[in-house]
Amino acid sequence: MISPFDRGFLFGDGIYEVVASYNGIFFMMKEHLERLDRNLKEVRIDFPGIIDLEKLSYELIKKNPAESKSDCSLYIQITRGISLPRKHTFPADNKATVFISLSPIKSNKSEWENGIKVLLWEDFRWSRCDIKSVGLIPAVLASQNAVEHGASETIWVRNNLICEGSHTNFFAVKNGIVVTPPLSKFILPGITRKAVLAICRKSNIPVREEKILKENLKELDEVFITGTLTEINPVVQIDDIKIGNGKPGAVTKRIQAEFKIATLLK
Ligand code: PDD
Repeated sequence: MISPFDRGFLFGDGIYEVVASYNGIFFMMKEHLERLDRNLKEVRIDFPGIIDLEKLSYELIKKNPAESKSDCSLYIQITRGISLPRKHTFPADNKATVFISLSPIKSNKSEWENGIKVLLWEDFRWSRCDIKSVGLIPAVLASQNAVEHGASETIWVRNNLICEGSHTNFFAVKNGIVVTPPLSKFILPGITRKAVLAICRKSNIPVREEKILKENLKELDEVFITGTLTEINPVVQIDDIKIGNGKPGAVTKRIQAEFKIATLLK
């Protein structure tokens, strides 16, 4: 039972994670739980149970053998518990609410193979986008707007700089060099982003964490976005700008293939 006075429901006062499982094994679980722990500390939610979450998540897989036959998405949400009556300040006897669920991943193969169109939007989120807070109204509006305009994702732009997608990180390729915006308070330090940086370094693909200006988008050879359920998705159009020859590029395809291998090795 979750109380309607739960602060996650009332204030969006909570932190979440999404983790993928491949063949019954969670991918980069340690990194996801480290980020969760870091985020909870950032917003001062007292939750001593991080250590048990991995075991609990595997129990969910065991208890749902039918669902976990396919690749799954694990959702973890931890809120600051109940405030009754509703009050902004922390409850004195703060007991976090924990919600974990597992569902099969419905992947979109055609998007991975053919690439997607994305739209640019001026970033109107708060200034701590590095925190994976459950307060996601901007991401909801941005995703819906994209779909209503025949696109698959929205890319946030702040002060003429490309930040990230509504639920993904942004990568570009120019002259064989992979570039992604550096970590800051305006982007989430994505776990898939981290995996891609590691793949590039291991595979001798030159990679840089560098600012990407909006006006330079038309000069890019390739673009792709990354995320836990998105994985590596080629982008072939940004607003009216066609990227490269309008088809997923060679570097993106190589990283997609290496990423697939990484998920199978884990
Ligand atoms: N979204 N940037 C934002 C704003 C995100 O919400 C996400 C993830 C990412 C990619 O992070 P990761 O590689 O760790 O999944 C980047 C999750 C999956 C979601 O909200 O469903």
